[in-house]
Amino acid sequence: MGSEEDFNKRSQTPAYTPVRRVQPHESPETPTEKHPDPELGTGMIDARRYTSAQFMQWEWERLWTKVWLLGARLLDIPEPGDYVVTEIGRESILIVRQADATVRAFYNVCQHRGNRLRDCGLGTTGEARSFTCAYHHWEYELDGSYRRIPDIDTFPQGRPKRGLREVACDTWGGFVWYTLNEKPEPLREFLGPIPKHLDPYNFDRMVQTRDITVEWNCNWKTSVDAFNESYHVQGIHPQLLWYLHDLDIQIDCYERHSRYLIPFGTLSPRVRRPPSIPEPIKSIMKGAGMDPADYDGPIGNIRTDVQKHKRVQGKAQGRDYSRLNDDQLTDDYHYLIFPNLSLNVHADDFWIFRQRPHPSDPDRMFYDILTYELVPEGAEWPERAKHRKWSHGDKSIGTVLDQDAANLPGVQAGMHSAGFPGLWIGRQELRIRHFHKVIDDYIYGAAGRPPGAP
Ligand code: FES
Ligand SMILES: [Fe+2]
Repeated sequence: MGSEEDFNKRSQTPAYTPVRRVQPHESPETPTEKHPDPELGTGMIDARRYTSAQFMQWEWERLWTKVWLLGARLLDIPEPGDYVVTEIGRESILIVRQADATVRAFYNVCQHRGNRLRDCGLGTTGEARSFTCAYHHWEYELDGSYRRIPDIDTFPQGRPKRGLREVACDTWGGFVWYTLNEKPEPLREFLGPIPKHLDPYNFDRMVQTRDITVEWNCNWKTSVDAFNESYHVQGIHPQLLWYLHDLDIQIDCYERHSRYLIPFGTLSPRVRRPPSIPEPIKSIMKGAGMDPADYDGPIGNIRTDVQKHKRVQGKAQGRDYSRLNDDQLTDDYHYLIFPNLSLNVHADDFWIFRQRPHPSDPDRMFYDILTYELVPEGAEWPERAKHRKWSHGDKSIGTVLDQDAANLPGVQAGMHSAGFPGLWIGRQELRIRHFHKVIDDYIYGAAGRPPGAP
């Protein structure tokens, strides 16, 4: 057994020189100021939140049915009658482009005997002139009203007063958002600072390159947690230490949402400086149109040199970076839009990871990978990726995500252990603490979490 002093020496965070970051006045639109950290204490986060059927039920009643959720991309439903099916928990929702070009959303359920109108699962798109239920052929207009009910004269009570049950929807960022809340706050209010941060990216010029759903054997929050801290990079993704700075990360927690800004194209202070440019950093250079073989500067300058190169070359490559700051040309601006969207936002692509709860099992969830890539001006618009679905571990979803995926069932199993009371959270994991605080706000309201509650 070593002394406390030995322990501290072995366990210290490595010292490092901070990377150069753009100053707030150098950012044309996206704010870069550090937001003051919230005062959230140092308490343990109860493991029962990840395993309890009761907590899962509260989440459904008080959280999932109250928040705004990502529904569909507007580009996927350009014409009247185009529709998308999305799902949350036990609900299936039809999002439909209307004759007047607006978008409306409905519970995907026939008012006769409860059949699904479109029994095709999340990610399905289609076009319809009307929606006819397969069971007895009740038919609905695109706006959810009745078009035809066979043998209506045999229903002495007439038809139900209301057609398809509508849910509120609105649009932002090229997406349709919906909420099961019958008295929702406006979407813009819910999103808070997010549009100001993300509007400068060219989302409208990005094509969808992946549309994947994987069923994972863990609670949805086990997965959200894993994408909102960088502390696990040294444990689970050691190869990324030659690609990003896992310690010099700016964390900003807003009212509900949060972000962190991770410098890419640079080395972690946890690793020794290699004799030549590491392959992952070379790939960043090549992506920017630079030839690593021609580069004679120090590795520590590559990040800012890539920024300069992209700033100069972007226009010629058909890429408009004029609304982005220099750090946005290399770094990962990583947002959590509460409760279940992790966004890795970059100048040339953005990735959405969406966690959805299983309808009834707290130990299972659905992980959606939605990725988009910038189509340069003048280039042909490629076809959108088709939706695919599989189970935990069936297929690779890329090295980094495979590493996350492989780890999560073990974490979920540990949540059930009598030997594990709860999460012991450090400063690098502040966003996890903040995420759980916002969950508490929904579950327990203004009174806060009662003593002894999960
Ligand atoms: S359940 Fe839809 S028509 Fe009967
Ligand atoms: Fe990870």
